[in-house]
Amino acid sequence: MPSCHTLIHNVQIADGSGSEPHPGSVAIENDRIRAISDLHGYSAQQTFDGKGHVLAPGFIDAHTHDDLYMIRAPEMLPKLSQGVTTVIVGNCGISGSPVRLSGNFPDPMNLLGQEDEFRYPTFAEYAAAVTGARPTVNVAALVGHTALRNNHMDRLDRAATATEIAAMQEQLREALDQGAIGLSTGLAYLSAYSASVEEVEDLAEVLADSGALYTTHLRSEADQVLPALNEAFNIGRRAKAPVIVSHLKCAGIDNWGRSGEVLESLGSARRYQAVGCDCYPYAASSSTLDLRQVDERVTIFITWSKPHPEIAGTSLAEIAKTWQVSQLEAARKLQPAGAIYHSISEDDMRAILRHPATMIGSDGLPNDPLPHPRLWGTFPRVLGRYSRELRLFPLQEAIRKMTSLPAETFRLRDRGRIREGYYADLVLFDAETVRDTASFADPVRPSTGIEAVWVNGVLSYRNGSCSGRRSGKFLSRKTERQTELHMSS
Ligand code: ZN
Ligand code: CU
Repeated sequence: MPSCHTLIHNVQIADGSGSEPHPGSVAIENDRIRAISDLHGYSAQQTFDGKGHVLAPGFIDAHTHDDLYMIRAPEMLPKLSQGVTTVIVGNCGISGSPVRLSGNFPDPMNLLGQEDEFRYPTFAEYAAAVTGARPTVNVAALVGHTALRNNHMDRLDRAATATEIAAMQEQLREALDQGAIGLSTGLAYLSAYSASVEEVEDLAEVLADSGALYTTHLRSEADQVLPALNEAFNIGRRAKAPVIVSHLKCAGIDNWGRSGEVLESLGSARRYQAVGCDCYPYAASSSTLDLRQVDERVTIFITWSKPHPEIAGTSLAEIAKTWQVSQLEAARKLQPAGAIYHSISEDDMRAILRHPATMIGSDGLPNDPLPHPRLWGTFPRVLGRYSRELRLFPLQEAIRKMTSLPAETFRLRDRGRIREGYYADLVLFDAETVRDTASFADPVRPSTGIEAVWVNGVLSYRNGSCSGRRSGKFLSRKTERQTELHMSS
């Protein structure tokens, strides 16, 4: 009689490919899926009755800012509780490494953590720290352009010189050699907005033919979104690197209704080059408080403020009224601060979410005391609200956007599908009840309906809490590309 370590039977297998779930069982041996099918003859050390629930590949959060949080809080409960088993960190131009702070602590690097948490002057040191922290989920990391700028420039409100670009290239090359999966930019932020196209092109050139990606928080997500998309596509084409547009949206009331144009632009680029995007399922964005986004027509909530911590959770309109100043003036007084902007149209968001090239990325901000609910709610919200309730796409398509699509895009070897020989990153959930419970008013709440989560074959989450076993791995670009597939049998 064949035997294995864990047997999960009586499940509906949604394998990540986008095809309809089918009844079956899955056998796990060590960190891999050993067999799939009717395994009633199998003996196992642990047998798990799936009660007819859906078993899917563990979700991959395509866009996170968990760089330093996962070292400080390796249980990673906001993500694990959603069925997430892998996160991509280093987005929007900011990364936990390689960073050497020298007095400057530029916005928005403060989204990642406190100054004293930036302790990794090289990517290798960061990778070692993550491995040492033993997080519950796997991680692959990008290098942030703003982080590089801050390492090599005395001020960030200008373009880099040729010497500075050369130094950044060198540091990026080293990080790629040490396992980074690509370069991210956050060109909309003032800490990178002055970077010239040439500066970014020269940096992105380092990615050429290495299998590494270029991800970008566009220079504009508002009026200038189309030129910003073109800029990103050109950079990717010149660098011969796949382009991922981060949290694709049409921001600002004047741009509502433009998702058609934006998706058309994405679609035409996809005919000539590798292009993808990620999106979170909410009609509100969140970041540091940006004076350029203050618009009296948009509801803005303050999530934190250094000079006025007591004000978290209050709307900027209310604060301005109390202080008897304009919203812009109030925003100035609150700096540095964090905010949630209700500045996206629900229809545009749905159109982007539904697009076949769109991956799911939470963009959650784990250090925010009053975080946007996307931190805890993104994946169950896509499954519950957008797939089951609003029928934006079938369940299997929702799962594909969270599993095989990001795994293939980020070249995560042997992940993102339920397939023999693949890593046993798995989530078991109740498709009838899975939903987010985190709200704008009460954002720190785990979702319901996620029954169990396995990471690299280890049962890591069950009955609403961590099992205490942490088995996430640092996914290095080189290992992902070179390791030979070794079946566990
Ligand atoms: Zn961003
Ligand atoms: Cu982001």
